[in-house]
Amino acid sequence: MKSYSSQFMTLFTRLAAPAMLLASALLTGCGGGGDAANEQLKIGFAQVGAESVWRTANTDSLQNEAKKRGVDFKFSSGEGKQENQIRAIRSFVAQGVDLIILSPIVETGWDPVLKEAKRAGIPVLLMDREIDTADESLYAAFIGSDFVEEGRLAAQWMVENVKGDEVKIVELEGTPGSAPAIDRQNGFKEVVDKHSNFTIIESQSANFRRSDGKDLMESLLKLHSDIDVVYSHNDDMALGAIQAIEAAGLKPGTDIIIISIDAIKEAFEAVVAGKINCIVECTPLFGPLAFDMAEKILNGEPYERRVVMKDGVFDQTNAAEVIDSRKY
Ligand code: AHR
Repeated sequence: MKSYSSQFMTLFTRLAAPAMLLASALLTGCGGGGDAANEQLKIGFAQVGAESVWRTANTDSLQNEAKKRGVDFKFSSGEGKQENQIRAIRSFVAQGVDLIILSPIVETGWDPVLKEAKRAGIPVLLMDREIDTADESLYAAFIGSDFVEEGRLAAQWMVENVKGDEVKIVELEGTPGSAPAIDRQNGFKEVVDKHSNFTIIESQSANFRRSDGKDLMESLLKLHSDIDVVYSHNDDMALGAIQAIEAAGLKPGTDIIIISIDAIKEAFEAVVAGKINCIVECTPLFGPLAFDMAEKILNGEPYERRVVMKDGVFDQTNAAEVIDSRKY
């Protein structure tokens, strides 16, 4: 069960007391006789990996902001494995960081390690992906997108723009068990189920990776000669699928409609070139917001426990006019 609260957070200030004391010591300059100006905020970041362009932009955004603010930033890539992220969190706890930022690979299985962080008085900020837990006190806050809504937006664009008595869709799913794969599927299906002329004929994972998207699309094209739409949980898999479609002698965007999520610059270019029909935005640029939030948590200031980004939808009608201003 996911548990969300829009209330301002007070509960975690109790849990984060040791870190808050340190932070207030820094602010007041009375931290155990040391020179407060030289004390650095120590933040650990347990990242998913580097599976997509989106993910790299996300890592860059946090690293750049940490540098700007002079934060002692400890970065760990999970390389797509939950056990690596759990190990990283344990190591951050052992190093006595002030706060941990976690972008969880999958939704479940976090309670034991987050309890360890909680016992050590280290607040955890979930960024990008949520977890499935019955214990809300295990994390201080969440910032990210509403993945269910992204799935709905993708499907809404499709039902409004793709006509036909029998529209056949193949779905390229993200990492099994991850919040974006689960939620983008549910949101999309919710809309599709209301339209009897749309059918999802295949749904398989390509792990948010471009090469996997290409391989999966190659095999789907061999199985089905009548695919009308590709719905991809991210742009990298869609761009891989486009390579497979072109190699099969078909025109992506015309013979097969392509809809995907993230809105990276390359996907914008593909929309302008007519190879992708619709992209739903999902920003990876959390750096400034994540560190603002971390500082508020550590300073005991009020903050919003769940901050959800507003995502846009782009297609051939509006992509060209904004492409130059895109930041990732
Ligand atoms: O969690 C966000 C998703 O993870 C992005 O859509 C995808 O590109 C990334 O790997």
